[in-house]
Amino acid sequence: MSQVDTRSETVTITDNSTGCSIEVPIMRGTEGPAVFDIGQLAKQLGIYTYDPGFRSTASCQSAITLIDGKNGRLNYRGYPIEDLAEKSSFLEVCYLLMYGDLPTKEKLDTFTHSITNHTLLHEGLREFYKGFRKDAHPMAIMVGVVGALSAFYHDSLEISNARDREITMHRLIAKMPTIAAWAYRFSKGEPFPYPRNDLNYAENFLHLMFSYPTESYTVNPVAAKAMDLLFLLHADHGQNASASTIRLAGSSQANPYATVSASVGTLWGPAHGGANEAVIEMLEAIGEPKNIDEYLARAQDKKDPFRLMGFGHRVYKTQDPRATIISKVCQEVLDNLNVEDPLLAIAEELAERARKEAYFIKRNLYPNVDFYSGIILRALGIPTNMFTVIFTIGRTIGWLSQWSEMMEDQGMRISRPRQLYTGRKQCHYIPIEERHEGEDFCAIK
Ligand code: CMC
Repeated sequence: MSQVDTRSETVTITDNSTGCSIEVPIMRGTEGPAVFDIGQLAKQLGIYTYDPGFRSTASCQSAITLIDGKNGRLNYRGYPIEDLAEKSSFLEVCYLLMYGDLPTKEKLDTFTHSITNHTLLHEGLREFYKGFRKDAHPMAIMVGVVGALSAFYHDSLEISNARDREITMHRLIAKMPTIAAWAYRFSKGEPFPYPRNDLNYAENFLHLMFSYPTESYTVNPVAAKAMDLLFLLHADHGQNASASTIRLAGSSQANPYATVSASVGTLWGPAHGGANEAVIEMLEAIGEPKNIDEYLARAQDKKDPFRLMGFGHRVYKTQDPRATIISKVCQEVLDNLNVEDPLLAIAEELAERARKEAYFIKRNLYPNVDFYSGIILRALGIPTNMFTVIFTIGRTIGWLSQWSEMMEDQGMRISRPRQLYTGRKQCHYIPIEERHEGEDFCAIK
């Protein structure tokens, strides 16, 4: 057994079996919990740490996003999400995350111009879509097409070069809405519209999703504002599973389009970005407020794998501030768009009832960002299987900022965790003629 004695700015870890000790420095960031720097532990004591799911592990240093889970705070580059949601725009937030501070008007204009002028996809990619099955999930198409970008954009792949990374980031931010909307249009057997440079980012996405070449399309400003807000609220969220994926994949110095594709695949899971789709499926299954009790009981039954989707978070132990913002604008957006959605009443009642249940109180389970976002997306006419795709568009800048921050870190090394091996000790190879059904071949001497 090892023991840990805490001192002021170091801890001493002693391996009692050998009597060897190591002084472990404590590192303090600008906000949030301190960390033990255990980088020398294996070298000096020959012992590794064990933390499946990274519950107690900081995997990197980052200056991008602060999540204060206890107090329900989220800051991008120091700016509270509430201020950004009210006063900023998605593209300004992209600039903020990417370059580290808010832009001047001139810088934002230049950035916006660059993003607007990178929205087209290589014509060869248009053909690429035809290879998918019509009933493919749009996230499956996203994984494929984003990965395929690595076969189309070869001119700026010197990833140690800051300008090449910048071009790649602009390209991906710009092209994501086109890739995403075409995945939807393909599933409907509809024409793939080209992007429109006279529209802003969210307006252009709605045009790509819903316009037809046969008639003119006017973007509803309420819908575009709501879409922009959803992109902004999803832009980054620290070292979550998909952000950790881009750092892990990128640490091998792999092609950035391939690494973003790996993050898209990670986001798809229902415990991560796929939860917004699962929330709507759950609310539809509940159907009527009278069925809420049954689902609350199921969520608390340890024998039932069912969980309340859109509830709970690894970091937030109070309500997710993004959920607070979305729940406030939800009714307003529905009213402005003249949409009545019975699922909103079910969602509100479910959240209200869960708030009073001891099970949820004890475990600090509150609505997260995915709980209300789907209701706004439905009101905008976005089909359920596109919800995680919308999350992907918003989160692309977060992944890229995390990737770029890692690439700029002089101490960056390939990510290579160790393991606690629990398999067999060494076996002797037994020739096939000597193996008989039912025997443990490894035990044969
Ligand atoms: N419904 C019922 N029980 C839950 C839920 C839930 N949604 N979430 C957690 N619990 C229980 C869990 O069973 C466990 O109970 P016990 O202590 O008795 O074993 C306890 O709460 C702690 O849960 P955990 O699974 O150890 O917590 P985690 O940090 O590993 O998981 C989570 C976090 C988000 C995966 C989980 O809360 C969950 O599965 N939520 C539903 C899916 C969801 O909404 N995901 C979106 C997350 S936010 C968007 C994003 O970041 O992508």
